[in-house]
Amino acid sequence: MAGGRTEFSSKLGVIAATVGSAVGLGNIWRFPYEAGTHGGGAFLICYIFFVLVIGVPVICAEFTMGRASRLGIPGAFRYGHNSRKWEGIGYLGILAAILILGFYSVVAGWTFEYIIESVSGAFQDTTADERHIHFEDFISGWRAVGWTICFLIINAIVSLGGVQKGIERVSNILMPLLFLILLAFCINSAFLPGFNEGVSFLFHPDFSKLTPDVILSALGQAFFSLSLGMGCLVTYSSYFSDRTPLVKTAAQIAVLDTLVAILSGLVIFPAVFSFGMSPAEGPTLVFEVLPGIFNLMPGGMIWSTLFFLLLAVASLTSIISVSEIVVTFLSDEFKISRVKSTVSVTSITLVTSTLCSLSFGPLKWLNLFNIFDYVSSNILMTLGGLGVCIFVGWRMSPADAREELHGKAGVPMWLYSTVMFIIKYLAPVCIGIVFIAGLL
Ligand code: PHE
Repeated sequence: MAGGRTEFSSKLGVIAATVGSAVGLGNIWRFPYEAGTHGGGAFLICYIFFVLVIGVPVICAEFTMGRASRLGIPGAFRYGHNSRKWEGIGYLGILAAILILGFYSVVAGWTFEYIIESVSGAFQDTTADERHIHFEDFISGWRAVGWTICFLIINAIVSLGGVQKGIERVSNILMPLLFLILLAFCINSAFLPGFNEGVSFLFHPDFSKLTPDVILSALGQAFFSLSLGMGCLVTYSSYFSDRTPLVKTAAQIAVLDTLVAILSGLVIFPAVFSFGMSPAEGPTLVFEVLPGIFNLMPGGMIWSTLFFLLLAVASLTSIISVSEIVVTFLSDEFKISRVKSTVSVTSITLVTSTLCSLSFGPLKWLNLFNIFDYVSSNILMTLGGLGVCIFVGWRMSPADAREELHGKAGVPMWLYSTVMFIIKYLAPVCIGIVFIAGLL
């Protein structure tokens, strides 16, 4: 306990919860179609560059703020000085969290429907057109809203359990399960006839597709996938013990998160090519194309069920972390109980996610789903990342930053200096350039 604040109880808990936050729809659903439509290997190279060179140091910066202040956002932006000038960046993070909760829980809800349909064999002997009509029908209706609500209720139950008994305990069970399922898929994938073609699609670089817009997408994807730029890791690290090695943990998250993204690509593309489907389907790839493919495989019902279970698990551990940003914010700033803050977050999200879900039906004209996605991942998270780097690099006392990254279970001085150099100079410049270029 630091100042009476709960802490994660074990190293495994820290890794399971933070990797659980990072690994989500972003890896399994978004990464494959972003890579697939944006030049395959060329996108991948950009993405890995951003994860390692910018992502890891920015994770370290978020950890530094969270553990030093023992507050979520925006409180962490007040650390070490009395003015409230920096708090605004923290509020951008809260806004990003609310937007992400809105659209993310909709897609998460779809996974429940698809688990049930897979178990009941509903996709057997369906044509691509039938699956397309079915998907469009389903996402535009109230049934999708119902599943989203279910998801939010499960999230609320975990959140009510608190950091140790809720988040940590659930992550400790779900993350190993996720890796097991993914492993089973990879083994299966290696035996598919389209394995080589799938691998070359994912890894073959087509540099002609690398426009500024694609580079912005790669950075946006890296930030989204690592849960950066909106205070999620600030919030989680405010519950780390002083013994948690920050730089090492940051590197572990980056490696495991990228591994899951690449493995998902290696699961999805070989299957797509083996059954003569198009890899450039975009967002519907996972929901329309894959069930058809599973259908053609031996044991298809089981694979299909397992796949949507994988997606559901990945989304749940991510949603838990996003809602924790707001729960911690409400509890820290207004000193209200976890029960009250969880109920407040869940109530707001019930409204926003219903509106997002109906963006595929009656509220198509408003299309909040796409707006929430675009604004949070391409604008707010990039700005938040920039704010975190400038705060830790230029505003926070260097002695405090050094204490977190180098002093407490930290890294050698040269590595600390490199990380700080990136946080101060390289990361803000890169984020700034890519952000402006992408907007233009
Ligand atoms: N990182 C998660 C994913 O890849 C999404 C997420 C974003 C979670 C921001 C928390 C905060 O799906």
